[in-house]
Amino acid sequence: MKGLILSGGKGTRLRPLTYTGAKQLVPIANKPVLFYVIEDLVDAGITDLGVVVGDTAPQVQEAIGDGSRFGARVTYIHQPAPLGIAHAVKVAQPFLGDEPFVLFLGDNLVRDGIAPLVDYFRTGEMNSLIVLKEVPNPQDFGVAEIEDGRVVRLVEKPLHPKSNLAVIGIYLFDHHVFEAVERIRPSRRGELEITDTIQYLIDRGLLVNACHLEGYWTDTGKMDDMLEANRWILEQIEPRCDGTVDSASTLYGKVVLEPGAEVVNSVIRGPAIIGERTRIMNSYVGPFTSIYYDCLVVDSEIEHSIVLERSRIEAAGRIEDSLIGRNVEIGRSPAKPRAYKLVLGDHSKVGIL
Ligand code: G1P
Repeated sequence: MKGLILSGGKGTRLRPLTYTGAKQLVPIANKPVLFYVIEDLVDAGITDLGVVVGDTAPQVQEAIGDGSRFGARVTYIHQPAPLGIAHAVKVAQPFLGDEPFVLFLGDNLVRDGIAPLVDYFRTGEMNSLIVLKEVPNPQDFGVAEIEDGRVVRLVEKPLHPKSNLAVIGIYLFDHHVFEAVERIRPSRRGELEITDTIQYLIDRGLLVNACHLEGYWTDTGKMDDMLEANRWILEQIEPRCDGTVDSASTLYGKVVLEPGAEVVNSVIRGPAIIGERTRIMNSYVGPFTSIYYDCLVVDSEIEHSIVLERSRIEAAGRIEDSLIGRNVEIGRSPAKPRAYKLVLGDHSKVGIL
């Protein structure tokens, strides 16, 4: 069995972070979402992986390499334009051949791995297996309608959902899917939809089974979900200190200091993770905060936030519920007039007091 990971797409819902980076590489608890996806596949015994890439291909390739450090072999597949998930499957056909495969969207995060799903698919006679999760906002997802325990209809982001069962971004297929992706037509948003692909299989009488996901899942493609995902992963971390803490500092609860991290005259209240070579000085880092590598936090307080690499936060007062991108500088305005002085990219959001 092979794995097909989608790591293209525009990531419009994660702007401005995705103007400069792949959405699948945004870190949750200081680890790109894509790495969790690869680990889940490898843990399920799937090591022959195709990664579909688009405009952000160089970053994705640099992050994953040949896959050997995950115990996998990675083949990159170029999708010339983000024309939909089913289009990505079509483009990947030469890599997939006739083998059954797991399609895993590179921005989806699950708690309990995928090994039971893969085992169920392998032992059953089905042509496809989809995974459903009850959600409060089904209109944001592909939605399944079930009759007598069987999936009868899938609708992509319906205005008036007939159920609250979202189709999560992990799908298992046999080779019949290739006929489906050839036959379906682009949707209103101009994409070849995976929901239409599966509907095609259902309409042709092929066996599409659905199972319920009990554990946690999120699609980190949206800002709101990222802090939640970060909270949830941090809750599970094992404390570790590979950095240094001076005698004037105190760490409470589950705190991870990655190699080279330095804590000086500060308080860190876990769960929290401080990245490689990041320095926290005269500051407070509160629960559910992830600060990535090569950052600096001085004379500031930060809680329930994600900070990406190489950012500097100095004398910034208290920051909460925030997502801070790469190479960001937050500091005091040095001179009069007393004013906010902002350099904000498109789609930035600032909450001022
Ligand atoms: C895609 C699928 C949708 C599915 C979702 C899960 O949506 O089209 O059916 O429910 O992933 O993450 P997209 O992220 O492309 O809007």
